[in-house]
Amino acid sequence: MKTIDVETLRTWLEEGRPVTVLDIRPIPERVEWSIPGSMHVDAYNALKENDPKALAEVELPDNKPVVAVCAAGKTSLVAAQQLQTQGIHALSLEGGMKAWSLAWNIAEVSVPNSPMHIVQVRRTGKGCLSYLIGAGDEAIVIDASLDSQVYLDLAKRHGWQITSVFETHIHADHLSRSRKLAECSGARLFLPDQQRVSFPFTAIHDGDTLATPTMLLTALHTPGHTLESMCYLLNNHLLVTGDTLFPTGIGRPDLEADEQQTRLRSTALYHSLYKLLALPSDTSVLPGHTSVPVPFDGIPIAATLGQIDEEVGIIHATREVFIKQIMMRIPPTPPNYRQIVTLNEMGLLPESNVMDLEVGANRCAIS
Ligand SMILES: [Fe+2]
Repeated sequence: MKTIDVETLRTWLEEGRPVTVLDIRPIPERVEWSIPGSMHVDAYNALKENDPKALAEVELPDNKPVVAVCAAGKTSLVAAQQLQTQGIHALSLEGGMKAWSLAWNIAEVSVPNSPMHIVQVRRTGKGCLSYLIGAGDEAIVIDASLDSQVYLDLAKRHGWQITSVFETHIHADHLSRSRKLAECSGARLFLPDQQRVSFPFTAIHDGDTLATPTMLLTALHTPGHTLESMCYLLNNHLLVTGDTLFPTGIGRPDLEADEQQTRLRSTALYHSLYKLLALPSDTSVLPGHTSVPVPFDGIPIAATLGQIDEEVGIIHATREVFIKQIMMRIPPTPPNYRQIVTLNEMGLLPESNVMDLEVGANRCAIS
């Protein structure tokens, strides 16, 4: 039986190689998250029952290899086998969507009239966005959510040395790879000032700056999503917002909080958003997450503060209405977030079951 691993399929999609990705999962799982550009056929139950006609009705494009995808890479083996008997070059995705959680792609942006160049690194399924931002021969990384080697290889491609690694907040939806990256690269690890984590770091406070010959980073404390949440303003033009502000929404303030604490955090978020919206409207916002699978299109997920101001209605509400709206719109809690928070507070990255812990799409935003 021929299979394909996540890294190979990821590379094919990034290079634009012809391939048909055939998602055979039940509809509710498909709706939760999927591989961008994939076809869907709800054949899961028929394949489980070994129905030889399970895929008979599927119309596949000619002359392209087909990669069958299921939740964990077992039923897709049956699908690939059935397609192979029809003479189709079919493969099964090893580990299925669970393994696809670690697939990533990038979008690159040069900043006009600036030596700064940004690589937005996107976990396509999970929606985590991290940033490698370089100028001259140095780079910083913000919110690393992938293996260190991904950032080290990308930095090498640009001739950058990673000198600083930042977190915007203690994450609840993915295991932070920042501590590991700082260790691997010899970079300094910066976290917002807080008493939550139990490992060494350099604390960042509101208004702190970090300057290199070509880059100026200014920290803006924006409590709300979490109490320590920090945004980073780069060269007074780019704003890395973590989970505080997104192009189409705002961060949820309820994780690890009871109802009263959620109301208090909502109030803090209201004031934090006010602070951010006071920046120039052409400031580019680079968020920490997106809630839909990220296509392999090289287009950065970003918006100006002016665009967000028009798009996200809730930020114009009065404080009382803002809090009321948030309390009404809080989405379901992400799976395993308590375990993820605990591991991130301890600075631990388990060797096994990472994919089980991080399973599912992102749920950090209220839109
Ligand atoms: Fe978050």
